[in-house]
Amino acid sequence: MGLLDGKVAIITGAGGGIGRSHAMLFAKEGAKVVVNDVGGTRDGSGSDASAAEKVAAEIKEAGGTAVSNHDSVATSEGAQAIIQSAIQAFGRADLLVNNAGILRDKTFLKMDEPMFDTVIAVHLKGTFLTSQAMAKQLTAQGEGGRIVNTTSVSGMLGNFGQANYAAAKAGIYGLTRTMSIELQKHRITVNALAPIAKTRMTEDLPMYQGTSSLTPAHISPAALFLVSDLCADKTGYVLAVAGARMYAFKVTETSGRFKEEGDGVWTAQEIAEAWEGIMK
Ligand code: NAI
Repeated sequence: MGLLDGKVAIITGAGGGIGRSHAMLFAKEGAKVVVNDVGGTRDGSGSDASAAEKVAAEIKEAGGTAVSNHDSVATSEGAQAIIQSAIQAFGRADLLVNNAGILRDKTFLKMDEPMFDTVIAVHLKGTFLTSQAMAKQLTAQGEGGRIVNTTSVSGMLGNFGQANYAAAKAGIYGLTRTMSIELQKHRITVNALAPIAKTRMTEDLPMYQGTSSLTPAHISPAALFLVSDLCADKTGYVLAVAGARMYAFKVTETSGRFKEEGDGVWTAQEIAEAWEGIMK
């Protein structure tokens, strides 16, 4: 018995890296898998259908069930086609992992508009488009479902040289929270994953040099948990994984301070004086 027996899973950006690892594990757990990947370079240029095809073939060789799709998540037509490929191949869809991603790093002062727009289009808009197409399919089926988005430490905490990427990933956090609230009544859970793993996206970063303990294989069990029946009562969370470490990101609100005197309107000087207390 697999954790995903009978389920139809769609994984975007599954032609390599973390997405490929998710696809292989989900198939091993009994899911029929749509392996989506546009097959471009790390910065999102170009396309190559063979990236998704190779992973689908690997799954089939291992005895699993998979089809490939190479549409882009960044357009409405592409997103619809990705969800439709599950319906065409398997008659339904149960779970979606929004994993596709690109990088166009530059310091804030040097970042140009296309660098910003392209990264937002793939990560944030792509997550919106595929999730909406999926949520419409899930509500039509009426049996609930699972959506897992992929955010990042960069989006949750900020990171040097990644204004576009951090903004997109922070946007995915907000999208995840709102989707989790709105889709709860349809029994669709929406959570996010914040991975750290050595892939083509990160292999040249200093912190990944000489390490063999930050692998996509460490990440995928967390994705499996979030899409499985084990997670039926959990929605709106950000589960983070870095090698053996499993943790979470939460946005917290401080208790703050109330101004008791007068009409309750603070002066700027009073804010300066009460700063430590407001931040607690
Ligand atoms: P990767 O570059 O190996 O995988 C991303 C995949 O997405 C690629 O195969 C690429 O072709 C595909 N893709 C790009 N644009 C697409 C589009 N428009 N439509 C469909 N597919 C598209 O990188 P990795 O590391 O596996 O990244 C997976 C996800 O995890 C990304 O969302 C990334 O931002 C996120 N992430 C990764 C971290 C890491 O440490 N590797 C850290 C934090 C987040």
